[in-house]
Amino acid sequence: MKKIKKVIKGIIPKPISAYISKRNELTILKKMVKQWIKRFMLYGFGGGLNTEGFIQLEAQIIKAYHSIEKGLAHTEIRLPFGKTAANNLSQLLIKYNLKLYSKKEFCYTTAISVLKQYFKVHDDANVNIDDIKIKFKELDLSTESNLGGTDIYNKDAIYSSIKKDFKVFSNSRRSVREFSDKKVDTDDIMAAIDLARNTPSACNRQGWIVRLIEDKTKMDIISDNQNGNTSFGDKLDKYLVITSNLEAFARPRERFQPFIDGGMYAMNLLYSLHYYGIATVPLSASLSLIQEKTIRNKLDIGDSEYIIMFIGLGNYADTFKVPKSSRKQANVKIL
Ligand SMILES: Cc1cc2nc3c(=O)[nH]c(=O)nc-3n(C[C@H](O)[C@H](O)[C@H](O)COP(=O)(O)O)c2cc1C
Repeated sequence: MKKIKKVIKGIIPKPISAYISKRNELTILKKMVKQWIKRFMLYGFGGGLNTEGFIQLEAQIIKAYHSIEKGLAHTEIRLPFGKTAANNLSQLLIKYNLKLYSKKEFCYTTAISVLKQYFKVHDDANVNIDDIKIKFKELDLSTESNLGGTDIYNKDAIYSSIKKDFKVFSNSRRSVREFSDKKVDTDDIMAAIDLARNTPSACNRQGWIVRLIEDKTKMDIISDNQNGNTSFGDKLDKYLVITSNLEAFARPRERFQPFIDGGMYAMNLLYSLHYYGIATVPLSASLSLIQEKTIRNKLDIGDSEYIIMFIGLGNYADTFKVPKSSRKQANVKIL
């Protein structure tokens, strides 16, 4: 069979065989993308047939309490806050209980821990949120854990951790949403960008591009169109925008490589910025079509580039709070 293929290939003129192979690649790519859409719709919690499997509910619960945790981490909390998120969380926890999933699971105990602190800040300030509390009346809130809430950090402790071994260094990187008024030194950002060049990538192709956004009008374009910076976007000193250039990739089987390499680069850049003492917050590029179009146009991002992530930059305040964002146990399968 292989021999016959080789003979046929030898007979067909090169431009025609190139055309055929391009068409074949397109067919395979379409098939792969179709398969991806099918699986994403089937398994994602966004509206597939089943959105109440354990992992799906766990993800929704974490997402819901994360937004409350973010609210708790503000230095000045304007009360009441987070009613929509708390309401959403109550419905998810009720669903979780109806499914008889364990109340000892990480997501459940953390959710209860966040809720208790959410109630406490309101109680301490005598702000009545009985309309929300009543939504949780059927739920067992007796689980005790300190997994949820906020952590207080100190700038000097962060700086000393940066110079220690990787374990201490890695554990001291946090997403920061409160900053000092001091500007971030551009030389430090450039040094971090230089360091992050060591990111590994498929065949060492390094298909990423990073933009440093200092111009206030351009920063506002990001803040206005990115979905997760409400309440701190205007406090950021600068933004970085990481994109992956599709021109560095080929073949249907590489369809996700731009995101993998770009994601690896984004993480390494976060660590590099941390190494240079810059406070960072990674910000999602999960944009609507219109948001993406606006950002692309205003930031001059070419059609061949895919936006991977934004990073908000600032200088550390002397002390600051962050959501605990506790982690679940590693999901390891040894085969
Ligand atoms: C791809 C990505 C997108 C994120 N998007 C946002 C965002 O839009 N807004 C935000 O406040 N935090 C965002 N974060 C930060 C996460 O909330 C944070 O990494 C997580 O809670 C873990 O906390 P830590 O970074 O402090 O360890 C994002 C993180 C990643 C990796």
